[in-house]
Amino acid sequence: MEPETITAGEPAMAGQAAKKKVVGSAADPLWYKDAIFYELHVKAFADSNNDGIGDFKGLMQKLDYIVDLGATCIWLLPFFPSPLRDDGYDIADYMDVHPSYGTLEDFREFLNEAHERGLQVMIELVVNHTSDQHPWFQAARSAPAGSPEREFYVWSDTDQRYRDARIIFTDTEKSNWSWDSTAQAYYWHRFFSHQPDLNFDNPRVLEEVLKVLRFWLDMGVDALRLDAVPYLVERDGTNCENLAETHVAIKAMRAAVDAEYENRMILAEANQAPANVRPYFGDSDECHMAFHFPLMPRIYMALSQEDRLPITDIAAQTPEIPASCQWGLFLRNHDELTLEMVTGDERDYMYLAYSADPRMRINVGIRRRLAPLMENNRGRIELLNSLLFSFPGTPILYYGDEIGMGDNIYLGDRNGVRTPMQWSGDRNAGFSKANPARLYSPVIMDAIWGFEAINVEAQEADPSSLLNWMRNMIALRKLFRVFGRGTLRFLEPSNRKILAYLREYEDEQVLCVANLSRVWQPVQLDLSGFEGLVPVEMLGYVEFPAIGSGYYPLTLGPYDFLWLELQSPRVGGEQQG
Ligand code: BGC
Repeated sequence: MEPETITAGEPAMAGQAAKKKVVGSAADPLWYKDAIFYELHVKAFADSNNDGIGDFKGLMQKLDYIVDLGATCIWLLPFFPSPLRDDGYDIADYMDVHPSYGTLEDFREFLNEAHERGLQVMIELVVNHTSDQHPWFQAARSAPAGSPEREFYVWSDTDQRYRDARIIFTDTEKSNWSWDSTAQAYYWHRFFSHQPDLNFDNPRVLEEVLKVLRFWLDMGVDALRLDAVPYLVERDGTNCENLAETHVAIKAMRAAVDAEYENRMILAEANQAPANVRPYFGDSDECHMAFHFPLMPRIYMALSQEDRLPITDIAAQTPEIPASCQWGLFLRNHDELTLEMVTGDERDYMYLAYSADPRMRINVGIRRRLAPLMENNRGRIELLNSLLFSFPGTPILYYGDEIGMGDNIYLGDRNGVRTPMQWSGDRNAGFSKANPARLYSPVIMDAIWGFEAINVEAQEADPSSLLNWMRNMIALRKLFRVFGRGTLRFLEPSNRKILAYLREYEDEQVLCVANLSRVWQPVQLDLSGFEGLVPVEMLGYVEFPAIGSGYYPLTLGPYDFLWLELQSPRVGGEQQG
């Protein structure tokens, strides 16, 4: 359905909801709390014109697959004109589509097709930096020092300023400053040297950013992911992350969203400790969502150590967030499994446990997909997904992980986790009919992970496949609002190989119990306060013994997990409540 236009023309003022320009595709302002996100790159999904690169027309043909999976919001990786030296995070034009992926018209059609199926769409707002090919940078280099054009970026006569700022791409960059011979000055960049940082001290930069934001929200895009948002502003004597001035810029973006649009969402990509992420929610006047980066590696650590402590520990450090806000939870994404937010010892442990081959490492992280990290162990893959779907927050799936796709550690950068989607056992995994040599990336071909072994078509035909298991779990999760909206309380059974927690929301009470160990485990749960209730296993709808006054005993097989809805006992055969 086309987003409804209420009034055209000038942006409305804050508080004047009736004059808001465009109504988003979602009906509930808190839609993102109950959402299931599916992250994909257009180039990697489906190629309609057989040039070896996926495109919007191809993606449109696959929307029903995403709906059938149960996802409700597509997160699109950058699709803008770009020299593609950082897979599109190096943007050369914010208001167009890279010609390899189609046209703006194709994007509009895709958006409408997605909305018609009840899917929301989140795109990237990458405004910490641009490509060095962006016209703003080209103009800045040759503009006189001090001019508004030059001041779009951050310049210096020396490369010694802001020395407390860490280098993020440690494998490729030696400094956050690079010399520009045209400008005869150094420019600042937190990422690759071909990605100069915009200067948010120049009010014209924020004006341009707001134009970009409006361009896509006017079109009906439902959400924006604010890429690399902690680094917008730099100040001497600081680490140039999370500064108050950065929050001022985010508040300005949020104010524009609230004043002019309904039911839209902005999400912070702030790879920071929980206490430093909390300010990105503000007083509900910054981002609606933020990724929970520190939780993710600790899930892997807990599994490998067979000990719940890493998870309960990081949960204890996670502050409360405003009622309208939400954590974004993920197991894997398009980047390396980042280890920036763990201690040195934890990092060493993770490298040892999950990246035996040094090729599996990049920067401060591990460039592998979920299934290979789990050594293709179905029980472990299911266990991790059960945590993803039952922890407080909105789950975000990375394309291909729902069928257990593998990676290719022999490709450069993070490209090993960005290979073509494996649709079938046909040529090029059914992704494209191009000459295989023409594909933007080789498909995965070995006997274990190759497209003949792992593909959507085969898994759709197999009732026991991972894909069908994922569909089932997602459908189950969507029946209970408690997962997206409820509170969390950990139980503390003496057996630390067992992770047990209660989720509660209105009249829904769910007890989740997970065995992090490769062998059977007994556990005694303290369920005082719930005496008389009957735990009902949610996948099979099987009643377990009622909760009594003593400890509640359970036995779990290797990597088993249970979701138990705590229900009132039946009276005369009928369930109460
Ligand atoms: C993105 C990366 C990208 C970087 C620089 C990150 O936050 O997720 O893929 O390389 O920003 O734009």
